[in-house]
Amino acid sequence: MAQGSAISVETVSKRFGNGRAALDGVSLEVERGEFLSVVGASGSGKTTLLRLINRLDDPSAGTIRLGGVDAASLDPVALRRRIGYVFQEVGLFPHMTVAENIAITPRLLGWERARIDSRVEELLDLVRLDANFRTRLPHELSGGERQRVGVARALAAAPETVLMDEPFAALDPLTREALGQDYRTLHEKLGLTTLMITHDMVEALSLADRIAVLRAGTLVAQGRPAAMIDHAHPYVHELMESPRKLARRVDALLAAREC
Ligand SMILES: Nc1ncnc2c1ncn2[C@@H]1O[C@H](COP(=O)(O)OP(=O)(O)O)[C@@H](O)[C@H]1O
Ligand SMILES: [Mg+2]
Repeated sequence: MAQGSAISVETVSKRFGNGRAALDGVSLEVERGEFLSVVGASGSGKTTLLRLINRLDDPSAGTIRLGGVDAASLDPVALRRRIGYVFQEVGLFPHMTVAENIAITPRLLGWERARIDSRVEELLDLVRLDANFRTRLPHELSGGERQRVGVARALAAAPETVLMDEPFAALDPLTREALGQDYRTLHEKLGLTTLMITHDMVEALSLADRIAVLRAGTLVAQGRPAAMIDHAHPYVHELMESPRKLARRVDALLAAREC
C-alpha cells in the first residue's frame, strides 16, 4: 500500500449468491486530499464498492484499508461516523427539518445543543443555503437544495473522507454543474479526500483529480482526466465518444459564428 493513502482497496471481490461477481479483483488507492471519481454504467458495481468501503457490507475476498488500517478490524459504526456518505437518492428523513437532518451524526456523537446549532448554521453557510432553511422539511426543497442538505449532513461531524454515490445524477444539468463545482470548492477548502461515483464521464472529467473506470465489476482504466481522452482501452474510448461529439459540435457552432 502506498504511504498516505486514505483509502486502499486491494484485490477486492464481492459475490452475491451464484451470479457473476459484482466486483472482481478491484484495486485502487485514494490519496489523502485527492478527488477520485469512479465512472461506470448502471450495474457495474459502483454502489457495492462504496458500501464495502463504508462497511455496510463485507468483501468476499481482498482487503480494504482506511488510513492504513484494515477496515475489517474497525468498528463499523465508529467508522461510518468518521466517513461522510452522500447517497444516490439523498435519503433525507421526510419528517425531520433540514436542521434535524444535518444534525443526525452530531446528535449520535452526543454533542451539546449549542455546538450542534452553531455547526448547523456553519454547514448551511458552507453549502450556500440561507439560514432560514433550518426549519424547512425536505418536501419544501428543490432537488438541488435537498442534495445541498445531503452534502451538509455528510460533512456534519467534520469527516476527512467523503464517499459520494452518484450525488448529482437526478438533477438538471445546470444545477448538477453548480453543485459539482461548489462541492469541488469545498473539497479544496476543507482538505477532504473524496471518492465520487458517477455514470457521467463529463462530470468526472470536470471535477476529479483522477478517474477510475469500472466495467462489469472490473477496473479497466485509471488515470488523470487528460489520460482518458486518448485512452487505449476500447470501453474508455466508448465512454469518451459522447463528450468528444459534444466538444466537436460546440467547436463547429463557434466556427460557424466566426464566419
Ligand atoms: N444485495 C445484493 N444482492 C444481490 N445482488 C446485488 C446486491 N447488491 C448489488 N447486487 C448486484 O451487483 C451488481 C452491481 O450492483 P451495484 O453495485 O448496485 O451497481 P451500480 O451502483 O454500479 O449500478 C448488480 O448486478 C446488482 O444486481
Ligand atoms: Mg449504484
